[in-house]
This record gives sequence, structure tokens and C-alpha cells, in this order.
Amino acid sequence: MKQDMIVILDLGSTENTVAARAVRELGVYSEIHPHDITAEELKALDNVKGIILNGGENRMVDGAAVEVRPELYDLGYPMISVDYPSSRCEKQYDKLPDQETLKKFVFDECKAEANWNMKNFIADQVELIRKQVGDKKVLLALSGGVDSSVVAAMLIKAIGSQLVCVHVNHGLMRKNESESVVQVFRDQLHANLVYVDATERFLGKLENVADPEQKRKIIGSEFIRVFEEEARKLEGIDFLGQGTIYPDIIESGTKTAKMVKSHHNVGGLPEDLQFDLVEPLKQLFKDEVRACGVELGLPHDMVYRQPFPGPGLGVRCLGAITRDRLEAVRESDAILREEFAKAGLDKKVWQYFTIVPDFKSVGVKDNARCYEYPVIIRAVNTIDAMTASIEQIEWPVLLKITDRILKEVKNVNRVCYDMSPKPCATIEWE
Ligand code: XMP
Repeated sequence: MKQDMIVILDLGSTENTVAARAVRELGVYSEIHPHDITAEELKALDNVKGIILNGGENRMVDGAAVEVRPELYDLGYPMISVDYPSSRCEKQYDKLPDQETLKKFVFDECKAEANWNMKNFIADQVELIRKQVGDKKVLLALSGGVDSSVVAAMLIKAIGSQLVCVHVNHGLMRKNESESVVQVFRDQLHANLVYVDATERFLGKLENVADPEQKRKIIGSEFIRVFEEEARKLEGIDFLGQGTIYPDIIESGTKTAKMVKSHHNVGGLPEDLQFDLVEPLKQLFKDEVRACGVELGLPHDMVYRQPFPGPGLGVRCLGAITRDRLEAVRESDAILREEFAKAGLDKKVWQYFTIVPDFKSVGVKDNARCYEYPVIIRAVNTIDAMTASIEQIEWPVLLKITDRILKEVKNVNRVCYDMSPKPCATIEWE
């Protein structure tokens, strides 16, 4: 079923996604398109009910103001403009109108139907995936993160055993994380799952490597190598599933924004491994991805987990990774997460984890001198991870966590709390 759509035309606004979100919140599907879209392209979208000309501070590109193509006004779509002077628009606003006004525009003027919801979205995607894939096979790197997990659940629903998931455990996962991927996907959802324990291989490659960038590069390239080896073992794979989401596309696709991030994909795969992509989440924002996961029956914990970097605990076990410190990061992280959940902080704090540096300090345990590692706690709040502030944790919670870490985690004799916002610190330590 084609859903009604309101198009946001990007005429230099920094708030295109806010506008798209606002429309979607009304239950109407919305997409962002570049300012120079042609009448033909717009008509080809098929189900457009109205247009928001969304101007803003990025309107000047190379010294000239971007304009909408005049032919668009003649197509007869209801239009409003936001921070964009347009004599041919019925209503002009300085800023995005409130939900009530937007509602009137979307339903009264555009006559759009509120048929954008997760059930319909999933039904549409399942149909599209089946059409695209036919009886072929799809390969998916299933990290256990939110996006890849939801893609996996969607593909299992659409094509079942034609999906092959590969989960590479690089040995830098959080406590019980790989186990839970296997449990949920293999045992509960009956996915065709290849589990690769590459712990020794990764730790071997990382031995004595202390430079953060070099560590990241090794983990990234080794990951692709392991995935590629597994892909070569499989036969008759034509497609690669990917957890691309809408912000990835918007950030790499806008023609007016100053900062353009490159769209991350499995770009490192060698050229002779050519796959077509299946990207069923590419129209969703992050919270919609989560709602989709819930609708597909994934466990709450898996769908609402905090962000976790690709290099995993490797960037939290500072300097050259050693097994004793890696274990200390993993165990202390598990305690922190458990206590945060008990205190209800898991719903309040954006990201929280522990770090173990590569130096020791003197302490005293059981009346004897000890020389052991510190554990550093970090808990931050942010909107977009570009800047971050420190969460002010209640003392009793911190004391409880400290007590447990000191009692339960080996080789640790000190706990510290990182007070630094971003900037000037980054969220991760490496
Ligand atoms: P920083 O440390 O740059 O982190 O302030 C910002 C956010 O990005 C996460 N992060 C990563 N995520 N791959 C990822 O998928 C990575 O290599 C990576 N490095 C950092 C970090 O956890 C934080 O949420």
C-alpha cells in the first residue's frame, strides 16, 4: 500500500529532519528532498499530498541563494514555506509552525491520510524485500547493535532461511553480548546464523599495539577480513543486508548543509565480492527503528540499548590491550549497567560505560600493599553525540557501584568518575 507523503524540500534549513519528524508524528509519511528536484521527479514519487518549502541559514550555496524550480508551483500541490520568501505560497512562516497548524495543513489542505505506522511499514517492506530478493540469498553482518538486529528481524520475517547472518565476536564485546545474539536470533527467531569466535585472532593482531588510531584500524580491517572469509565460504549469495537508516542518507545526500558526512557502509569489502544492497530501514529515524524492532518482536533490551562503538571494549581498554584489563573493563561495565538499571538511570542517561587505563596505582587490600589498575566511570548525555554533558549521578549510586567494582573485579583497587564534557573530551577515551 502506498502511503500518503508530505515532501520537505530542503532549501537550506538545518531543521529538515525536525520537520519530517513533526509530520511523521501526525501519522503521515514524510521525506526530505533536495531543493532542485524536478517536477518529473516529484510526480514520480507518486503519492505526494503536499510540500513544505523549508528554508534556513544554509540557503546560500557558492554565493547564490538556492531556489525551488518555478515549475513546481504549477503542479497544484498545497504548499507552505518556512523561512523561505515565496510569493506563490499561500502561507509563509518564519519558523516551523506548531503541531496544531501543521495538522491543519497536512489534513485539511493536503487531505493526507494518517496511514504511516509500523504495522503498515513492516507489511510494505516485507513485500518489497520479497520482490527484490526473489528466491536468492541475503548475507547480513549481525553485530547485535540496534540497526543490524532490526534489519535481521525484518529479513527473517520476509525471507526466513534465505537470510544468512554472520556474527563476528571480536572478543571486545560486552559481557554476554554475543551469547545473547545467538540466543535471540538462533534459538528464538530460528535464524540461519553463522557464529564466528575470532577473539584469539583479534587479540593476537592487537598485541602490543598502543596507538588508538592504529587499534581502530586493525579492528575495522580485521572485521572486514573475517566477514569476507565467511562470505566466500557461502554459496549463492546475491544480496547484502545493511542497517542504513534515514539520517545516514540525509547527512550524505543534502546539497545545502555545510557539514557533509560520508555515508557509512561496508565500503571495505573487496571488489570481487559484489552484492546488491537490501536496506529496509533506510527511511527510518533511530527511534522509529526501535519501534520497528519492538513491533517485530525483538526483546526490549536489544532494541533500547545504548550506543556501542564498532571497536567495542577495545577503545575502553586503553593503550595496548591486555587480557587482565580487558576482563576488568568487561566486568566493571556489567556492574555499572546492572546498577544503572536498578536505579532507573538506564532510561535517563544516554551512554555510560567504564574505562581501564594502562597504568597502576598503589593501594592496600587485606592489610597488604597492592599495585593495581583504576576503573574510570563515564556517564554522558547528548542529543547527537557531537557535544555531551556529564550526568550528575547521586552519590549513593556511585558508592554502590564503586563498592561492587572494588569487591568483584580482579586487579582493580581504585574507582574514578570522569567529569569532562565534550568538548574538550570526546565521549570515548580513544
Ligand atoms: P566520541 O568518542 O567521538 O564518540 O565523542 C561519539 C559517539 O560515537 C560512538 N563511537 C563510535 N561508534 N563506531 C561507532 O559505531 C566507532 O568507531 C565509534 N567511535 C565512537 C561513541 O560511543 C559515542 O556514542
